[in-house]
Amino acid sequence: MRLRKAARIILIGAPGVGKGTQAVRLLESFPQLATISSGELLRNNVKKQTPLGIKVASTMSIGQLVPDSIIVRLILLELQTRGWLFPSTDSSSLVLSNTSGSRDTDISTNRSSFPDKASPIQTSDDPSASFILDGFPRSLNQARELDQVIPINLVVYLKTPTSKILERIAGRLVHAPSGRVYNTTFNKPKVDGIDDLTGGVLTKRDDDQLETWKTRLEQFESTSRPLLDYYADKGLLWEVEGTSSDEITPQLLSEVVRRFGENE
Ligand code: AP5
Ligand code: MG
Repeated sequence: MRLRKAARIILIGAPGVGKGTQAVRLLESFPQLATISSGELLRNNVKKQTPLGIKVASTMSIGQLVPDSIIVRLILLELQTRGWLFPSTDSSSLVLSNTSGSRDTDISTNRSSFPDKASPIQTSDDPSASFILDGFPRSLNQARELDQVIPINLVVYLKTPTSKILERIAGRLVHAPSGRVYNTTFNKPKVDGIDDLTGGVLTKRDDDQLETWKTRLEQFESTSRPLLDYYADKGLLWEVEGTSSDEITPQLLSEVVRRFGENE
């Protein structure tokens, strides 16, 4: 399927609700889309032991949210690296202010330009500038920061009963290098414990312990309501509920077609 205009979608939902899974399905149906997962970006930094990764590793392993200042800059740099943000001035080495007011971060870059909130960012309406953000923004602060540089045009709130999610987390396996997600019951790999595409070994995520997951859920519950209200007030929120992918995926695909798909 083809998009007729840029889709800038964010996925919001409890840990394990299927954000990553639905993002992959959207990509399969709409080749013009691309996805950024905040969790994947962070896990890659942890794995590579970058200064940022070292800083956030313990926070992530106990299921707490990393500071807004770090995640906002990480995501905006990624958006810019992928060419989805176009600073409208020839700014050099501009740095986003952060919500805590401190210039903490370890994110060093050799790139010469960086989005500056003081100068308006031009967004492209070309379908090739479409993206899905999985797991970002996660708080009202983060949403406001994002709004200053790029307008989102669809917010998807995925809902599934907590009891179902718990079963899924117990069965989740990931291919760490690519972030591909499997499950021992749903979406099994072709060969047990092995990634379908590369033949690499599948592992469990470090934060998929029951206690850690509970903390992640508490974090979600305490930060998501203001975020959802914020986007509902803007008329951007679309909610979808289901206990299985068979219920959610078709609804999600048809909503994306309705809003962004090419007219037949
Ligand atoms: P992140 O990686 O975003 O984790 P999360 O929100 O806890 O969500 P998950 O990735 O666990 O679940 P998912 O919804 O993607 O579900 P999945 O598709 O895998 O964040 C990790 C950490 O990074 C955070 O705790 C925090 O520390 C930090 N962080 C990230 N973003 C941040 C931010 N913005 N601000 C601050 N800190 C941030 O599905 C789960 C399982 O269920 C899989 O096994 C899957 O195969 C299976 N499954 C999926 N759909 C179905 C279905 N329909 N039926 C049956 N099984 C299914
Ligand atoms: Mg995920």
